[in-house]
Amino acid sequence: LAKFDGLELPASADFHVHLRTGTMAETVVPCIRKGGVNTVYVMPNLVPPLTSASDALAYKDRLQRLDPSIHYIMTLYLHEKITPAVIKGAKAQGIVGVKSYPAGVTTNSASGVLSYEPFYPVFSTMEQCGMVLNLHGECPSGEDITILNAESSFLPTLKSLHAKFPKLKIVLEHCTTREAIEAVKECGPNVAGTITAHHLFLTIDDWADDPFCYCKPVAKLPRDREALLKAAVSGSSKFFLGSDSAPHDLKAKKGGRGKTAAGVFTQPYVTQLVLNALEIAIERKVISEEEVTEEILKNFLGGHGRKFYGINDGSNEKIVLRKGSEVVQESFKGDGVEVIPFRRGESTWSIEW
Ligand code: NCD
Ligand code: DOR
Ligand code: ZN
Ligand code: ZN
Repeated sequence: LAKFDGLELPASADFHVHLRTGTMAETVVPCIRKGGVNTVYVMPNLVPPLTSASDALAYKDRLQRLDPSIHYIMTLYLHEKITPAVIKGAKAQGIVGVKSYPAGVTTNSASGVLSYEPFYPVFSTMEQCGMVLNLHGECPSGEDITILNAESSFLPTLKSLHAKFPKLKIVLEHCTTREAIEAVKECGPNVAGTITAHHLFLTIDDWADDPFCYCKPVAKLPRDREALLKAAVSGSSKFFLGSDSAPHDLKAKKGGRGKTAAGVFTQPYVTQLVLNALEIAIERKVISEEEVTEEILKNFLGGHGRKFYGINDGSNEKIVLRKGSEVVQESFKGDGVEVIPFRRGESTWSIEW
């Protein structure tokens, strides 16, 4: 993609980030701009989760103190405390969405959803007042479900929620399968899907022996990666970037004993990694260089997402892309934390502001 060396684009918008708290947040928030991003949609899976507008706004304040130049868009954690009245109050205070985590499927999801029916009055209120439902689209593991088919098993739930609440804006977060891409396409225009940078690179073989490539939902087959790449460059306004950058301390990744935390850290290189992934896909002839136009790139990196969410601010600020001038840092260290970024040591693009 040498044709994009020196290209000026609107600053990227990343519609799915984990920024954490404490020293981890102090380490991660300064990486947002480094990745070419000025607008982030912030996930609520803190401990305890963000289940009220006041908690979410207090958290937004803390983030703003770490970098006041970023637009932080907030979403609540779907939970029994969230009622139609909570939704109306949250909407009035500028909260944009609600994210549902199925109980037990990923980091800090112990207080997640067991069944969607009890939330129908909440979804109906969200539909009426124009709030977005962000779905972590995986079924919990069980008799016939493992992390490999957890997402495809969830798709009937997406379809039925869309059928019951046809005007509700829904985002199927971090799509990882061809089936998920097809399901989003089959739904109406108010159903969209986010695509991460790392899922444009990875398949099962990569995370099977590397904790720094392990995330939920896990990367799937080469044919699934191909479907994600094609969706990203399709120009369809249903698909846009949501990195799911999910930092974990090195100790939670390589503890040896116990579980490896799920999450790939891409925040410092989000825009750059998308360019790298597309270049690799062009080399492999999965997509062609001609189909990756400036317009396609601009829309995937922010245009489509900003439009879906109805967000205007942030798109006037510009970045400039520089090809192959940087190497991904080995690690990002803060006070008592160390996070290993995705593709450490690999050469990548640079961003100028
Ligand atoms: C505002 C901001 O950046 O703080 N703008 C925005 O991102 N749309 C207010 C907000 O996040 O609600
Ligand atoms: O891999 C993941 N990590 N997937 C998620 O959905 C959550 C995230 C995290 O918070 O670490
Ligand atoms: Zn998720
Ligand atoms: Zn996430």
